[in-house]
Amino acid sequence: MKKKYIKINKQMPDPWGYKIEYDKFFEYVDIPHPPEEFILQIEEIKKMPNKNTNLSSFYGSCVAPKKLQQWVNKFIPNNTEVRYHWMTNDLHVHVDYVRIECWNYILDLGGSNTYTCFYDNNFNVKEKHFIKPKQWHWLSVGNLHKACNLENIRYGITVSGKRGTRNYQC
Ligand SMILES: [Fe+2]
Repeated sequence: MKKKYIKINKQMPDPWGYKIEYDKFFEYVDIPHPPEEFILQIEEIKKMPNKNTNLSSFYGSCVAPKKLQQWVNKFIPNNTEVRYHWMTNDLHVHVDYVRIECWNYILDLGGSNTYTCFYDNNFNVKEKHFIKPKQWHWLSVGNLHKACNLENIRYGITVSGKRGTRNYQC
């Protein structure tokens, strides 16, 4: 996957004023399966003591145990956070709040025919991906997206990459 820096604010001196654009919305990545001890049921994940944030009825997440963070660091050294997260079909089309890319490992798709859509700024579907469970993949979550056609809770491991203001070149 390649990235392009587009100067969107000419007043700002380098390296500031850029927006990052990736040439893909989605791709599978070659990272091994996490060790068995981290393949948990949603009930176990929701009971975790570490900074459990249940932001709404349709999305929640909690920081992953240190041991899982250390395991992820070996394969994604440039990660900025490792969490378990869960969502329902009511999670609307959105841009992620604090990050523009992530690596996900889905433990349960939440349905038999789920897919992830990416949209342009007019909410037209640009791409539709039937992502497989238990297979690491990268997503450009700074673009409008949604997990569609969920019948149950979808959950898994989510690893954040580049975060924040997206207006610097590095
Ligand atoms: Fe998202």
